[in-house]
Amino acid sequence: MPDQDALKRAAADKALELVRDGMLVGLGSGSTARFFTEGVGRLVARGMKVRGVPTSRATAELAAANGIPIVTELLGPIDLSVDGADEVDPSLNLIKGRGGALFREKVIAAASRRFVVVVDASKAVPKLGVGVLPIEVLPFLWRSTAVRLASLGTSLTVRGGEEAPYITDNGNLILDLRIEGGISDAPALAQAIRGTIGVVEHGLFIGLTDTCIVAGPDGPEVLGKPSAGPIQQPRPS
Ligand code: 5RP
Repeated sequence: MPDQDALKRAAADKALELVRDGMLVGLGSGSTARFFTEGVGRLVARGMKVRGVPTSRATAELAAANGIPIVTELLGPIDLSVDGADEVDPSLNLIKGRGGALFREKVIAAASRRFVVVVDASKAVPKLGVGVLPIEVLPFLWRSTAVRLASLGTSLTVRGGEEAPYITDNGNLILDLRIEGGISDAPALAQAIRGTIGVVEHGLFIGLTDTCIVAGPDGPEVLGKPSAGPIQQPRPS
């Protein structure tokens, strides 16, 4: 049985087959996306012309360390973005943001012609909400935002605790909402959260995934919307 890191790497390696010369590529955050970014670095080292759009400061540093030219201002669509996820349901809706980078991850996913999610099989769930749902909020009024959000779940905590809260790349806080029994109506919950004053973004990614590569012991399985088409073979080098 391969270990979890080997599965994460297998999913990321499969996604690397989609990278083509000249592409603008969204680079995800977290331990699975890291394998993808390192792989893009290897392609660049072999001469492929690829530019990266990082989803977090940590990924920007990783990309720079791997020799990937970085785009700091987005002027058009991204050709392909590859990112991890915390949970994936059978409709390929996601929970993301347990690594704290959900705001830029969502912006980049939405700006991408093809958004590819790479996960090991432990992330596949029958229903979202097995773990917490991260919500990024403005520090300025976070307590009143928390009171409003608390009624949407069974418990709510500020990440890192009140004494030393976790601060996102955007200078905001993360509230982790737990919903015992899972999320029954993710679109309705997403709408309710978005309508709450002080919310910057939440970790529900609904209808954004084009392709999901799930790596299990039998190898990577490619799931996706029919419009995304099959994964193409790499061009001969
Ligand atoms: C960060 C994320 C990550 O993609 C998610 O947490 C998965 O990370 P990992 O691949 O390390 O399990 O959403 O905000």
